[in-house]
Amino acid sequence: MGEPRPRVQREVVSFVRRSARMNPSQLKAWDELQHWVVDVAPRETSTSVAADARVEWDAVFGRRAPLVVEIGGGTGDVVAGVAAQHPERDFVAFEVFQPAVASTLSKCARAGVGNVRVVVANGVDGLAALFDEHSVTELWTFFPDPWHKTRHHKRRLVSTSFADLVASRLTADGLWRLATDWEDYALAIRELLDGHPAFVNRYAGWAPRWEDRPQSRYEAKGVAAGRTIFDLCYCIREGGAR
Ligand SMILES: C[S@@+](CC[C@H](N)C(=O)[O-])C[C@H]1O[C@@H](n2cnc3c(N)ncnc32)[C@H](O)[C@@H]1O
Repeated sequence: MGEPRPRVQREVVSFVRRSARMNPSQLKAWDELQHWVVDVAPRETSTSVAADARVEWDAVFGRRAPLVVEIGGGTGDVVAGVAAQHPERDFVAFEVFQPAVASTLSKCARAGVGNVRVVVANGVDGLAALFDEHSVTELWTFFPDPWHKTRHHKRRLVSTSFADLVASRLTADGLWRLATDWEDYALAIRELLDGHPAFVNRYAGWAPRWEDRPQSRYEAKGVAAGRTIFDLCYCIREGGAR
């Protein structure tokens, strides 16, 4: 009998690892549109990103353009829509759920955009490993999973350590755009980021709805259920952290 395999320490992540059964159109998109998926080396779990993984984004996109990163893009409604409106920017969307990635790929194909790439991995790891300091023009976290139970709040994407990471990756004139349909999460985000030394609230309160942001299916469900949508937008404090 061989040596027992060492147990992998389960890290706290902001997503659930779900089985990934795709419908026929998602399977077709997944097979045909892999050229928009950027593979990265994992650590011990398939959704992780190795700390020494690297991607040359200029080479991937074939140019140097302002970079926008989305974490948890879901089925790609926002990235496909905004990328079509902004051909002068390049967009990198992180999403861990393969069927959602397949839908993102087909939406990008339908929108006729060539300036989007998708990474099927934890965007927190990805932002840390794959982007230089002060190289990201915008970071988007739209409708992050709310993790309602208090004992699950540690799984929420927006945390102090994540804010520190975002601050280190955004350019001096960079923006962090966020939205959620859960008031308690919105208030917690605002309290955290209003108090964070690297960020300034661009609107001294809730942001107006960003007019470029198409309504995602997830957002539409929140609206249909009668929930209010809270938009937030933060800039980097001039001169760095207070
Ligand atoms: C509630 S959905 C919202 C999706 C999308 N932003 C929208 O508005 O439709 C959150 C998504 O984030 C993904 N997600 C959560 N944490 C993530 C992470 N750390 N990296 C990549 N994807 C993540 C989940 O798989 C899920 O698809």
